Amino acid sequence: MSAYTTPSGDRLDPSSTPAPRHVAIIMDGNGRWARARGKDRLEGHWAGYRTLKRIVYAADELGIEYLTVYGFSSENWKRPDIEVSGLMRLMLSAMRAEIEELIANGIRVRVIGRLDGLPQDLRDEFQAAMVRTAPNGRMTFTLAINYGGRHEIVDAVRSLALSVADGSLAPSEIEETTIQERLYAPETPDPDLLIRTAGEMRLSNYLLWQSAYAELWVTPTLWPDFSREDLSEALAEFGRRTRRFGAVVE
Ligand code: FPP
Repeated sequence: MSAYTTPSGDRLDPSSTPAPRHVAIIMDGNGRWARARGKDRLEGHWAGYRTLKRIVYAADELGIEYLTVYGFSSENWKRPDIEVSGLMRLMLSAMRAEIEELIANGIRVRVIGRLDGLPQDLRDEFQAAMVRTAPNGRMTFTLAINYGGRHEIVDAVRSLALSVADGSLAPSEIEETTIQERLYAPETPDPDLLIRTAGEMRLSNYLLWQSAYAELWVTPTLWPDFSREDLSEALAEFGRRTRRFGAVVE
């Protein structure tokens, strides 16, 4: 486990600072970043991709075991066609460009969401990335694509209903763990820390079930400007929080 370095240069001792195992990020602000520079929104998304690349490797170096990012929500289809198709092309190019480096660095790639709603070439690319990186044992990097937290719960409930209908599950056997087991990535622990860039104070349908006890950290920084130092600052703040999980902590 690496020690953290805060923006002011302090090194934090990991033995006294509980590290978040799983960090989830809502990468917001690409559009505002582009507008502020008189650029097209898609240029903002390309800048966001370059940031994402830096943050993936920074997170791994900082000892994070699971990093989950919101790449395309189930609501993002409401955006103009040109932006949606541009994002699909961006994700395809990014996956093709990055896969060898991800493999070389031992990073495991997962993609969660309703993948059957995506263009076939992108699905195939995601599928191949998941298969090729499955043996990797360092950080698990999960992309939430065509993802909605409510959709995920609906899909879990449908799967449970099928098990009840075929007699393999009794309704009285349904517990929180039974629902957890039907989520898109059941073996991934819940996020400890949820970061949102660009200042909005909401969850936007992201990891609704899993974020029940996540610590929230919101920064006004727009995603393309988000740096390794910002990530370190979030981790340092996480280390100062007291997590009670509903209990009383003396
Ligand atoms: C939100 O910013 C961002 C998105 C909807 C897309 C996120 C995608 C990337 C960062 C590119 C990532 C690449 C891969 C491979 C997943 P916004 O457009 O809502 O910004 P705004 O609120 O300022 O308009």
